[in-house]
Amino acid sequence: MSGRRVADLLADLEPVGRDGGTGGFRRYAWTRDDHELGSWFEAECAARGLAVTEDRAGNQWAWWGDPDATPGRAVVAGSHLDSVPDGGAFDGPLGVVSALLAVDRLRSRGFVPARPIGIARFVDEEGARFGVACAGSRLITGKLAADRALGLADADGITLAEALRSAGRRPDDLGPDPQALARIGTFVELHVEQGKGLIDLDAPVGVGSDIWPHGRWRFDFPGVADHAGTTALADRSDALLGLARLVLAARTAAERNGCLATVGKTRVQPGGVNAIPSAATAWLDARGSAEEAVRAALADLTASAAADGGVITEESWTPVTRFDRDLATRLATLLGGVDQPAPVLGTGAGHDAGILARAGIPTAMIFVRNPTGVSHSPAEHAEPDDCEAGVDALAAVLADLASD
Ligand code: GLV
Ligand code: MN
Ligand code: MN
Ligand code: MN
Repeated sequence: MSGRRVADLLADLEPVGRDGGTGGFRRYAWTRDDHELGSWFEAECAARGLAVTEDRAGNQWAWWGDPDATPGRAVVAGSHLDSVPDGGAFDGPLGVVSALLAVDRLRSRGFVPARPIGIARFVDEEGARFGVACAGSRLITGKLAADRALGLADADGITLAEALRSAGRRPDDLGPDPQALARIGTFVELHVEQGKGLIDLDAPVGVGSDIWPHGRWRFDFPGVADHAGTTALADRSDALLGLARLVLAARTAAERNGCLATVGKTRVQPGGVNAIPSAATAWLDARGSAEEAVRAALADLTASAAADGGVITEESWTPVTRFDRDLATRLATLLGGVDQPAPVLGTGAGHDAGILARAGIPTAMIFVRNPTGVSHSPAEHAEPDDCEAGVDALAAVLADLASD
């Protein structure tokens, strides 16, 4: 196994969920592509002699050592393999691939861990298919109730329960998994940076401090279908007008309140070019460094949508997450030295690491420099040397945390 590099493993994944048109990836939860990603993970672990277990949400855990022999002591690294629509190659896979290679590097130098080391692959981090981000980690930590999750539907109306059955799984198995969580002493997620912080700091790797509060809301606007050529403007009830006003209001509310707000997904029914829209749905993503700013923007948007008869449903809300400060300091010092510790920086992107941290697990993140800051796009990138620096950093962190 030793000698392989990040680019080699990412190249193995390249054909899976490839969207020919954009050069990006569409790797959605509980699809055939997702199954292929899970099988790839299992094969990589098997090739390293690592036993793979699955928790009640289908997240996969590979073990070097027996995590049940000494519960609560395992040091686990990992991330996800699913993607957003037309996502890049690094968001998620970089963390899983780096964990596999970090284990290789530790073994090639004869490291013998005093604690079990685990590699995790979380399912459905992006929520691209069923709407709730970090579904795998939210489920096992009880932050997403199984009965709510099972009823979530994708764009074709297929529920998670149906998707699980099609994937050969039992929906009844879904639920909190305290036993899986109890194995973890420390969790570390390595991730490509999704902004320009590390470029500005001129550093290949950094350590996470916190994740901004963020949430997703669904807005449903009512209308009445009618003929586009025979219905006078005064007689129309056009659902899309409310949605259009919401999109503009989101931009204004974000500017006024000092946060971010994005409508990145919409659905219009019946969807005929010559029919007046009878229903329009918009999904809003709002985040910011201050929760009050996000809440104030949402209040503005609630008022604006209500005037158009819009009905708002909160799909998820994650308060600010602060990673274990002592752990972050320890990692920054380990990676950069006492005199020049690695940078410690926050992010507006959500991660499974944030969900585990909120569940009380000592958790850290390592970010790898992204030369353009672009993410959730096929243009997302990290230089090969920075990726290798990330693996070295993760190996150093695992060695440090698992040495006593
Ligand atoms: C997940 O990547 C998110 O922050 O949207
Ligand atoms: Mn992402
Ligand atoms: Mn990610
Ligand atoms: Mn994410």
